[in-house]
Amino acid sequence: MDFAETDEQAMIRDMVRDFAETVAGPSCHQRDKEQRPPIDEFKEFAGLGFAGMTISEEYGGQKLDDISEAIVIEELSRVDSSLGVMVAVHVGLCSMTIVLNGNEEQKKKYLPKLASGEHLGAYSLSEAGSGTDAAAMVAKATEDGSNFILNGEKMWVTNGTTADLFVVFAKVTDDPEYGKKKHGGVTGFIIEKDFEGFKIGKKEDKLGIRSSDTCTLILDNCKVPKENVLGEVGKGFAIAMNALDNSRIGIAAQALGIAQGAYEAALKYSKERETFGKPIAAHQSISNYLAEMAMRIDAARLQVYKAAWSKMKHYEEDGDRHTLEASFAKLNAGDTAMWVSEKAVQILGGYGYTTEFPVERFFRDAKITQIYEGTQEVQRLVIAREIGK
Ligand code: CAA
Repeated sequence: MDFAETDEQAMIRDMVRDFAETVAGPSCHQRDKEQRPPIDEFKEFAGLGFAGMTISEEYGGQKLDDISEAIVIEELSRVDSSLGVMVAVHVGLCSMTIVLNGNEEQKKKYLPKLASGEHLGAYSLSEAGSGTDAAAMVAKATEDGSNFILNGEKMWVTNGTTADLFVVFAKVTDDPEYGKKKHGGVTGFIIEKDFEGFKIGKKEDKLGIRSSDTCTLILDNCKVPKENVLGEVGKGFAIAMNALDNSRIGIAAQALGIAQGAYEAALKYSKERETFGKPIAAHQSISNYLAEMAMRIDAARLQVYKAAWSKMKHYEEDGDRHTLEASFAKLNAGDTAMWVSEKAVQILGGYGYTTEFPVERFFRDAKITQIYEGTQEVQRLVIAREIGK
């Protein structure tokens, strides 16, 4: 067991930290206000090679180890968690899902542009009536010659208004399991934004991660060539669940970055702000908060990196599936982000409640990490099932 970062991981952390502070940081407050996606920042980040961090060189990527991937998302989110989730969804839910399930033609066609950042990726599973209960989706796909025709409305799509390529799930009605099993017929499709019948719907006005765009997708007789089926017809639910096992580690890393950013802001403020003749950090009521923030962040960090390590062992050494570790990390890191950012606002007092300081944004951004890519309640359900096996 070795808890130290490798030289390469330390170098990646420094590089991403520098990018986050100097490129994303200066515009992130204004983007949050205007709900403007960080697409320019994403393109610039892609220029450093990070858009292809889950894709091998063969398809134009610069594959990083899974702990480095978590470090990248953590460091972006320490400054700008909207950019953090944009990158996490692109490299995880979209690119990695194609890496794992795409055929050779699909990989050759789609991965190089995702790797270079020319195309931004998104993933779409949920619908108005099926978030937690993902298998209850009603979007349908019917065969029509060399195409599938998709109809339905998808919801909560991160990167939805800015993405070029979407991994979308719908139920194929001709599948023999359709209507028999709850997730019968669920199939993954790779959809280009210009496909006929594919429309961007309503953009959500959100509490937090306001610079990250979230919208509905309308499948209005959307024509998808059969060669764009991801994996096998009817086998999409396992693909969707497996994608979430991978990407929940990214959201846990995002939560970790939010907690770290909020903690650092509170620590700095508490050393500068004086009451009763001394810095507030010297008052036990505040130093106790700071101590607990540091301890909780350290615990969350260990779990996030362990989950990333388990994912790596699963794919590279045929180790056990990392479902349990991913849910542990997401549950703990999400709660840590919420707890730490709330305490950071408290430490800054009235100032923390204003937009003069970043802690109010961290506080708003933290909440979503307890909701998306499986609520905290879903993580408990998954954990309970895994430990009960
Ligand atoms: N990996 C691979 N296969 C899996 C799996 C996994 N982790 N988990 C389940 N499966 C398979 C099962 O083996 C089973 O396969 P069979 O075909 O052999 O039966 C099948 O999937 C059904 O499994 P369950 O019976 O466990 O399914 P369920 O209906 O009880 O659902 C659930 C379980 C855990 C609640 C699941 O619905 C779930 O994770 N819900 C939350 C969904 C979620 O996280 N949505 C977020 C979407 S993305 C987002 O937030 C937006 C964004 O852009 C960021």
